[in-house]
Amino acid sequence: MATSPRTRIVSTGMYVPSRVVTNKDLEKIMDTTDEWIQQRSGIKERRWVTDTDTTLNMGVTAARQALDRAKLKADDIDLIIFGGLVTDYVFPGTGVLLQRELGFSSPVPALDIRNQCSGFVYAISLADAWIRSGQYKRILIVGSEVHSTSLDISTRGRDISVLFGDGAGAAIVEACDEKSAHIIDSVLHSEGKYAEALTLAKPSSNDHPRLALEKPNDLSIYPKMDGKLVFKNAITRMVEVIHEILGRNNMTPKDLDFVIAHQANMRINQMVLNQLEIPFEKTHHTLDRYGNTTMATIPITFDEAVLLGKVKRGQTVVFVAFGAGFTWGANLLKF
Ligand code: ACO
Repeated sequence: MATSPRTRIVSTGMYVPSRVVTNKDLEKIMDTTDEWIQQRSGIKERRWVTDTDTTLNMGVTAARQALDRAKLKADDIDLIIFGGLVTDYVFPGTGVLLQRELGFSSPVPALDIRNQCSGFVYAISLADAWIRSGQYKRILIVGSEVHSTSLDISTRGRDISVLFGDGAGAAIVEACDEKSAHIIDSVLHSEGKYAEALTLAKPSSNDHPRLALEKPNDLSIYPKMDGKLVFKNAITRMVEVIHEILGRNNMTPKDLDFVIAHQANMRINQMVLNQLEIPFEKTHHTLDRYGNTTMATIPITFDEAVLLGKVKRGQTVVFVAFGAGFTWGANLLKF
């Protein structure tokens, strides 16, 4: 009897804008210091979009790289999952724009998800479920994030604006047999009672008219965050969800060869690894150079770790993320 398919990661791709913004550059536009930013977050620099970068075309570049590396064409994909906080249009979602831009000859479905920093982990879980059901065979996942154009880059917004960067990551997953290395399991959670702990409120459905141009000093056009609450919950929930996904698969942290954690803050990731007693060599960071690129952090960091030979085929890997919502989750896989 034929067994049901499993899902493997075929390839990844990434893109970051060419414009490097160092902590020293930020010192010139707000009351902050390179030392404060590095000590609190581990970030040295980040990328901000140039005039030609958008959520869409950054995503397209990352997607094309993933397709090229897998020697695939757009028409080899039968579903797109796209995620991004700040999209090119309020609607339609960027997934259909990506579908148009990549030149599909058939009307493959495009799904847009809104799961912030956990978006990639949610997307992998969704893609795996669809592939295991037999409905789709090969899925393109893209996370593309433009933060810089919605940040308050003055002293007033410094607690948030120093943390985020722009960039995109992509992954292609496809059906495989269960003997091949594959995605083992995923765990997803959310806790909406903390929605306002990290939020960008405007433009909002509450506004009539939608863009309240008569209120130029309305600060809700900028993201706001309860940094300490996010910090504490990020550590607790990422540790919990790694234990949860390992426990239900009869594994312990010692069974992991590598951890790709969401890139929000070096101290968060250090504390998560310490609590799990996972040595720091079993992870990789891009946060120092790209900052927090929300849904793109995991595919960007995974992509780089694979290229550097830090993660190898056949190894047991966990992806773990926590972010606004709050949402969090993990994927466990043999790569
Ligand atoms: N430069 C200099 N000083 C600053 C800056 C800055 N960029 N930002 C804030 N400060 C000041 C504050 O005003 C405060 O001053 P005060 O003591 O005079 O009031 C002081 O620094 C200390 O601020 P704290 O909030 O106590 O600093 P903390 O140690 O908590 O670090 C930080 C702040 C880095 C935001 C931390 O709370 C954090 O990383 N939280 C997690 C947030 C996060 O990662 N969010 C990303 C999205 S969600 C996710 O991806 C997990």
